[in-house]
Amino acid sequence: MKLNGKVALVTGASSGIGAATAATLAAQGVKVGLAARRVPKLKERVKEIEAAGGQAMAIEMDVVNPASVRAGVDALVKAYGGIDILHNNAGLMPASDIETLKVDEWHRMVDVNIKGVLNSTAAVLPHLISRGEGHIINTSSIAGRKVFPGLSIYCATKHAITAFSEGLRLEIAPKHKIRVTCIQPGAVDSELFEHISDAGYRKQMEDLRETITFLSSKDVADTVLFALQAPPHVDVAELFVLPINQPW
Ligand SMILES: NC(=O)c1ccc[n+]([C@@H]2O[C@H](COP(=O)([O-])OP(=O)(O)OC[C@H]3O[C@@H](n4cnc5c(N)ncnc54)[C@H](OP(=O)(O)O)[C@@H]3O)[C@@H](O)[C@H]2O)c1
Repeated sequence: MKLNGKVALVTGASSGIGAATAATLAAQGVKVGLAARRVPKLKERVKEIEAAGGQAMAIEMDVVNPASVRAGVDALVKAYGGIDILHNNAGLMPASDIETLKVDEWHRMVDVNIKGVLNSTAAVLPHLISRGEGHIINTSSIAGRKVFPGLSIYCATKHAITAFSEGLRLEIAPKHKIRVTCIQPGAVDSELFEHISDAGYRKQMEDLRETITFLSSKDVADTVLFALQAPPHVDVAELFVLPINQPW
């Protein structure tokens, strides 16, 4: 897809992979809506993009709330005249053992990691269908292909995103010429571990940095760009992106 002048919505754009993707797309001439809950952070990201000559807007959005998502999409479409690209990226990973019964954290992961993706897709899809083109990128994970102890619920949510992406592609790619990409990164340097309330698992995750050279968020953003820049007849359906020294 030729990206200059296209419009993208990136959820979870206040930090990490989403912030890097927003900046990378803006550098290609894409008008970007950066969506998340922390508005001051979004405004910082927008300023950085504008300082680099790009076009972007901050959109306060809680992906768990369908009305908030619809309002954000409406604001983006009103400001930029349409939408061509959705990057479903907001997510969280509070690791813990199942037997510790952190049920609130399980529900939160289901709400953000699964229902958030469904809410954003539902709000954007009619716009893409009416244009007869577009691209939806879903951030799954290595945890959407493999299950790790302590990450059972997170893995369940990311397996759901891998499955949803494939089903979405099967239904809408041939019929509406809307491409779907499921990106499955390994370990990435971001704020993701900051939400781990279990001290043991948080240390275990942080200690991974001693043996694995984490990907940067920009590394992942560049693979998103690769999928978007493929010729229109090419759908990069899956991207499994790992640090070179992260074992399967
Ligand atoms: N880091 C990794 O190793 C890794 C590996 C594979 C996949 N992933 C996936 O990559 C995605 C991005 O994570 P990251 O690593 O970049 O971590 P991050 O820096 O913590 O980013 C997570 C983003 O999600 C947003 N978010 C959380 N809850 C939200 C909600 N209810 N509504 C809207 N936005 C919400 C956060 O913004 P606010 O708090 O401002 O709302 C933040 O911008 C996630 O889906 C994660 O599962 C990460």
